[in-house]
Amino acid sequence: MSAPRLGEIAPDFTAETTEGTLAFHDWKGDSWAVLFSHPADFTPVCTTELGRVATLETEWERRGVKVLAVSVDPLESHEAWKGDIAEVAGSEVGYPIIADQSRAVSELYDMIHPGEGDTSGVRSVFVIDRSHTVRLTLTYPKSVGRNFGEILRAIDALQTTDRGPYSTPADWRKGERIIVAPTISTVEAKERFGDVEELTPYLRYATEPAG
Ligand code: BEZ
Repeated sequence: MSAPRLGEIAPDFTAETTEGTLAFHDWKGDSWAVLFSHPADFTPVCTTELGRVATLETEWERRGVKVLAVSVDPLESHEAWKGDIAEVAGSEVGYPIIADQSRAVSELYDMIHPGEGDTSGVRSVFVIDRSHTVRLTLTYPKSVGRNFGEILRAIDALQTTDRGPYSTPADWRKGERIIVAPTISTVEAKERFGDVEELTPYLRYATEPAG
């Protein structure tokens, strides 16, 4: 199965999790979601990653995002490991972890890559919007822990540009100026956004209107 691509509907599934049986689309409702895989429980990098996601709980909530972790380890392993994660991170794991022993979810989302040496998942991330559409994907190797601050930043950018017509520049952070879409003339941009800085005819910065 190839991984769901940007713009496609995130495939639905039912899975056993640390919070009980979960039907993905029903559980997600009209929230955003971050579905992310990790290679294995009781491993160092994964422990820091799931801990980081736990400490960011209020940041996910602020953006209307539900998070859902997945690995091929069994439920008992996830339950036991959660204690270590909480100890290391200083935050309880308040989100579900899928026990994907059948690999149904991992295969549906192409989270197990040939050549990785075993049957564990890579570090995949799917950011899914309110209408279940895949909006961003990331795949990291086992040796490199993900930057969840960057995932939050990208969600801020997605949620901001959805109010467009505009996009966000490199390294943009919430509250900074946006880039006016090329489809808007500078005259119209000034009417809509007020002050517009034109660096080139195609690169024009403006402040997003409030509210
Ligand atoms: C880790 O998270 O550190 C890890 C995961 C899988 C294999 C080895 C290490």
